[in-house]
Amino acid sequence: MRLLIIGALDGQIGAASQIVLARGNQVSLAEDVVHGLEVLREKGADLVMIDVRRDIKALIESLAAERIHVPVVACGIASDAAAAVRAIKAGAKEYIPLPPDADLIAAVLEAVTADPGALIYKDPRMAQTMRMAEQVANSDASILITGESGTGKELMARFVHKKSKRANNRFIAVNCAAIPEALLESELFGHEKGAFTGAVARRLGKFEEANGGTLLLDEISEMDIRLQAKLLRVLQEKEVDRVGGNQPVKVDVRIIATSNRNMEDAVAKGTFRDDLYFRLNVVTLALPSLRERPLDIQLLADFFIRKYSEANGIPQKPLSTDSRQILLRHGWRGNVRELENTMHRAVLLASGSEIGPEAVILTGAAAANPDPLVAQAANAAATALAAAAPRGDMVGKTVAEVERELIIDTLSHCLGNRTHAANILGISIRTLRNKLKQYSDEGVAVPPPAGGEDRAAY
Ligand SMILES: Nc1ncnc2c1ncn2[C@@H]1O[C@H](COP(=O)(O)OP(=O)(O)OP(=O)(O)O)[C@@H](O)[C@H]1O
Ligand SMILES: [Mg+2]
Repeated sequence: MRLLIIGALDGQIGAASQIVLARGNQVSLAEDVVHGLEVLREKGADLVMIDVRRDIKALIESLAAERIHVPVVACGIASDAAAAVRAIKAGAKEYIPLPPDADLIAAVLEAVTADPGALIYKDPRMAQTMRMAEQVANSDASILITGESGTGKELMARFVHKKSKRANNRFIAVNCAAIPEALLESELFGHEKGAFTGAVARRLGKFEEANGGTLLLDEISEMDIRLQAKLLRVLQEKEVDRVGGNQPVKVDVRIIATSNRNMEDAVAKGTFRDDLYFRLNVVTLALPSLRERPLDIQLLADFFIRKYSEANGIPQKPLSTDSRQILLRHGWRGNVRELENTMHRAVLLASGSEIGPEAVILTGAAAANPDPLVAQAANAAATALAAAAPRGDMVGKTVAEVERELIIDTLSHCLGNRTHAANILGISIRTLRNKLKQYSDEGVAVPPPAGGEDRAAY
């Protein structure tokens, strides 16, 4: 991982950078925000760590203006809660208290970059796809990974990269659906100084950043047809034109693209170029939906129970036979991601010696489901939820009021633990923090942080 540290290195930040280096990461150093931005434009970084005394707000604003996407974490003296709050308000993702603690730094690096774990499978349908992935990984062929939402397309792309001869070079992912159309071109191909308002200096695009490695074009079907033509040219010529530039730059990049839509339909409808489709689709890895791999439902359910029991310090409980049946019969429209969230919730809600159906809350499994077991479970779950969090009568309240009640009730239910509450609510810890800050400013009583959490960060 490539880390940029902005700050004076003589003190504790220097010690923090030693920890990061010792863990096998690459570190660049910059004294101040201006030099930090230069490093980011020239070679990019996966994470920025900035001294809380530097101008974090200016950094975040420049990143936004120059369309540089990189998470920023602040570090500062542990006892300075006001500085921590300022940093988070300015847009830092996390706050690392100094003097640096090696385990905490490791945890933050992991959380911010969210290095995904191994692909877990044993179902024959998945095993077949994995065999094919291993076979083609080492070639330079473009790969199209298809599959419903949450089937593990990104995880598969990382797996292919790790198994390829490019494994020691970078893996860079660009989500074509998440970046506004007008910005995607400069994100991919870079830009020269003055190419548009805010382009204060030359900046490399993702193709150049990924040079020698692998570039994941996530949700490629969402790319606008005009940009598809430019992408095709880049793939054919193996060179990019920076926006506002007049000198093509050679790149050597292996492309992996993903889509959760049927690409052939998109081609037939004319929203996706057929020549680009053929170029990307030298090999297709089609990930089966979770409902098509029952052995994986069970294996992954047990895996996530172990993972979240450990993470939450809760003794691990077995899944009851009824619960197992319910999981096997559910439709899993959100696939592995939905299963993971369901098991995380189940671990937190289970009250007996086993994880019973009352803890398995399936979203979208209406009580009217034709399957009696699923319907029964949905009913039981709804009752359990209603009992756990009395909502009162919502009619007559504003959305903001209901949201506030939900957030405060969930937080009380989690005994003040911000991390658990944010997970259950499905929002980031930062959003939760911002909401709580707003409520306490408005004079609402907010449950204090749980014992194990760092109070300075809240
Ligand atoms: N086989 C697997 N073993 C372990 N975890 C998995 C597996 N498949 C998916 N996951 C986990 O499920 C989540 C969704 O996976 P991923 O992001 O790769 O899916 P995706 O197909 O790219 O989803 P989307 O269509 O929403 O972009 C991730 O947290 C990932 O780590
Ligand atoms: Mg994805």
